[in-house]
Amino acid sequence: MEKSEKKAIKEKREKEISGKDGQATAGLSRRDFLKTTAAATGLVVATGKLFGTPLILSSQGEGKAVMPSDELRVAFIGVGEQGRILLDCCLRIPGIKIAAICDIWQYSRDYAAGYLRKYGQTPNVYEDYREMLDKEKDLDAAVIATPDWMHAEHTNACLNHGLHVYCEKEMSNSLEKARSMVETARRTGKLLQIGHQRRSNPRYIHAIEKLIHDRKLLGRVMIGYAQWNRAKADMLSWPKKYTIDPQTLHKYGYNSMEEFRNWRWFKKYGGGPIVDLGSHQIDLFSWVFKTNPKTAVASGGVDYYQNREWYDNVMVIYEYENEEGMARAFYQVQTTTSHGGFYETFMGDNGSLVISEVPQKGNWAYREAHAPDWEPLVREGLILSEAPPIQKVETRNVFVDVRVTAEAGRWPLPVELAKPAHQPHLENFFEAIRRGIPLNCPAELAYETAVAVLKVNEAVRTKSLLRFRPEEFKA
Ligand SMILES: NC(=O)c1ccc[n+]([C@@H]2O[C@H](COP(=O)([O-])OP(=O)(O)OC[C@H]3O[C@@H](n4cnc5c(N)ncnc54)[C@H](O)[C@@H]3O)[C@@H](O)[C@H]2O)c1
Repeated sequence: MEKSEKKAIKEKREKEISGKDGQATAGLSRRDFLKTTAAATGLVVATGKLFGTPLILSSQGEGKAVMPSDELRVAFIGVGEQGRILLDCCLRIPGIKIAAICDIWQYSRDYAAGYLRKYGQTPNVYEDYREMLDKEKDLDAAVIATPDWMHAEHTNACLNHGLHVYCEKEMSNSLEKARSMVETARRTGKLLQIGHQRRSNPRYIHAIEKLIHDRKLLGRVMIGYAQWNRAKADMLSWPKKYTIDPQTLHKYGYNSMEEFRNWRWFKKYGGGPIVDLGSHQIDLFSWVFKTNPKTAVASGGVDYYQNREWYDNVMVIYEYENEEGMARAFYQVQTTTSHGGFYETFMGDNGSLVISEVPQKGNWAYREAHAPDWEPLVREGLILSEAPPIQKVETRNVFVDVRVTAEAGRWPLPVELAKPAHQPHLENFFEAIRRGIPLNCPAELAYETAVAVLKVNEAVRTKSLLRFRPEEFKA
């Protein structure tokens, strides 16, 4: 997420706490809060005047009464930027008790504990996860949002302790460690969900499973394209009064405060932008093509920044082969331009679909002129009516026949998600614990993506074609 987006979220959150946006929530009891947010959440369907038959989807956990015996006691390890977003989601899900939080940084502990207090949750607070697991006797689950290099240690410890685990993506910065997580989940029989949240997003499920797979809206899909471009940004700093002393930093494996705050850019702790951001979108290629890549060729480098170890720009091309034949996908991550932002496109011989976690950046399909009529799908409520056709235009010097050159009009998708993007994925996890429904991103599946993603750095380094063996994707 871009710094500016994070800042906007932070400001919104602070407004929510202080009630400055006119929707005062400060002082509400937890029960009131959950009642309010339950009403405000849930899936809604776009209500434009072009809309056809309503498409009503419900999501796990929504509208269900939660019995006291259904309450889940959850611990958090890592309550930095992402941990706090997940905490916020949990506050909106009925029956989730945040029993404990753990973070090695006092700033994160204070921020998260203070935020939770506003909503009537007073978890026990720990610096070290070992002490937390030792002292907390009746936990059901753990949510892990620490830097990638600690995921395996934290996940394995929690699974071994008898907890179900929701662990953020990327599973790990090493495939060996990622594999150990799959093995521990298998051995302990506990659930392990990995945080590729698009897998539970009803907009993505509708687009990929309903439109692309079931209804073959795009015909044969042969090309995937996705990008995550963000503007140049300085290294993250920190409030000086919250500087961690070198002894404590070393105790937890960090070389310096700079590295602790900017772990993504350093090989010891993370996988760089391609892993950090690409993991979400490369995961979608496999979902759409229903298979893992056969090859990858990539280019990238540390071309712009000083004092960062990981490639600041990467472009990768994958080859896939499925029952329909060959398909290819191009992915790029750029950290010196925000051009185009982040979205994913799937191109078939009958049409294309553009989607993004932020609907304004992608939430529509294009139809090729020769494709079968899409109006029946509109009548079923699966897509919305075509936007008005693009008119002929004349530029100053060149006549452009847009009937020939322009793409067809947009056919918007009808599903909206009226809750934070990560909430349905957490709901899926909690409902899997409570009622045994399948996880949308179990560890085995996430491991397959981890292979496709983490290997890109190797392809960049070796400047050679990478060939994947099918058995490599199995942990
Ligand atoms: N799914 C998503 O959309 C998404 C978005 C952003 C980040 N993430 C993932 O979430 C994770 C955290 O990212 P972030 O942006 O919050 O990073 P961050 O640096 O803001 O937060 C990490 C937190 O973990 C704490 N921490 C570090 N080592 C620890 C340890 N050994 N024990 C306990 N706490 C420790 C830090 O003090 C910090 O508070 C990463 O795996 C990242 O890839 C996912």
